[in-house]
Amino acid sequence: MAEIKTLAVVGSGQMGSGIAQLGAVHGLDVWLVDTDPDALVRATKSISSSIQRFVSNAHLSQAAGSDALRRLKYTSNLEDLHSVDVVIEAIVESTEVKKKLFSELDKIAKASAILASNTSSISITRLASATSRPCQVIGMHFMNPPPIMKLVEIVRGADTSDETFSLTKALAERFGKIVICSQDYSGFIVNRILMPMINEAFFTLYTGVAMKEDIDAGMKLGTNHPMGPLELADFIGLDVCLSIMRVLHAGLGDNKYAPCPLLVQYVDAGRLGRKRGIGVYDYRKIPEPVKPTPRL
Ligand SMILES: NC(=O)c1ccc[n+]([C@@H]2O[C@H](COP(=O)([O-])OP(=O)(O)OC[C@H]3O[C@@H](n4cnc5c(N)ncnc54)[C@H](O)[C@@H]3O)[C@@H](O)[C@H]2O)c1
Repeated sequence: MAEIKTLAVVGSGQMGSGIAQLGAVHGLDVWLVDTDPDALVRATKSISSSIQRFVSNAHLSQAAGSDALRRLKYTSNLEDLHSVDVVIEAIVESTEVKKKLFSELDKIAKASAILASNTSSISITRLASATSRPCQVIGMHFMNPPPIMKLVEIVRGADTSDETFSLTKALAERFGKIVICSQDYSGFIVNRILMPMINEAFFTLYTGVAMKEDIDAGMKLGTNHPMGPLELADFIGLDVCLSIMRVLHAGLGDNKYAPCPLLVQYVDAGRLGRKRGIGVYDYRKIPEPVKPTPRL
């Protein structure tokens, strides 16, 4: 492939919308796809307010911001992706759901297209096995939020070609990112280290060692982390954290990766973190108390 000009991002949640924004701001024509039309509406709003913030802070000119918004198209129909150069998948962290999507994308996307996954932990080789083009399948793991965070972790599957790797690395660098490379083992580099720490923070809370505020303050002030591990889990999404722990547990076969029962319970209760308004912490607005009407 000579040059990447068109991008599709599948999954318009917190990661997919940020990746689509990056592509559009860096001059690509972008399709953003989601099966849920409401998610596409939310993504439209969040991308335009994020771009507006970049313009207000003078990190982007008004003209470049407007150009980026014009480059974005939204759809629920995968068939619209037939001519794109690169697809980045950012849907739910489930091997079976992602494999089904990769198999569909393989049939729709043109023969030269690269199929990348933003998976946090799932084997790229396994996703590639659902396609007829494993040499063009690669992991492109952005950090949250993609327009801000500097890192992209690139993961080569067993059959990823050198050409696919070079084009993907060049794309990440065009987005202004620093690239690190990982072998294709569960959790790669970042989540192999980060998620057991978050899981241990849940065990610390679960076994009553300390209150959530003290656990987070301990790690922020004691180890210079910008966010505490429980706060960070809420930011990432507790469902995403739990899925990653399950992939680490199954993929690496060590009980030290077993998810904390409290994390499992929160997810079962729908306490998924900031995106649901409640996770470890409660972000919902408490209604103002009704003021008594003054007597005349
Ligand atoms: N949240 C993070 O901090 C983070 C960081 C790096 C990577 N990731 C990875 O990125 C991916 C997405 O995570 P997220 O936090 O953006 O999730 P999210 O729940 O915010 O968004 C997922 C979106 O995918 C859509 N979707 C689900 N199945 C689909 C399908 N078959 N076709 C099209 N759309 C579909 C959903 O409707 C939803 O809008 C996951 O693989 C996750 O592990 C997440």
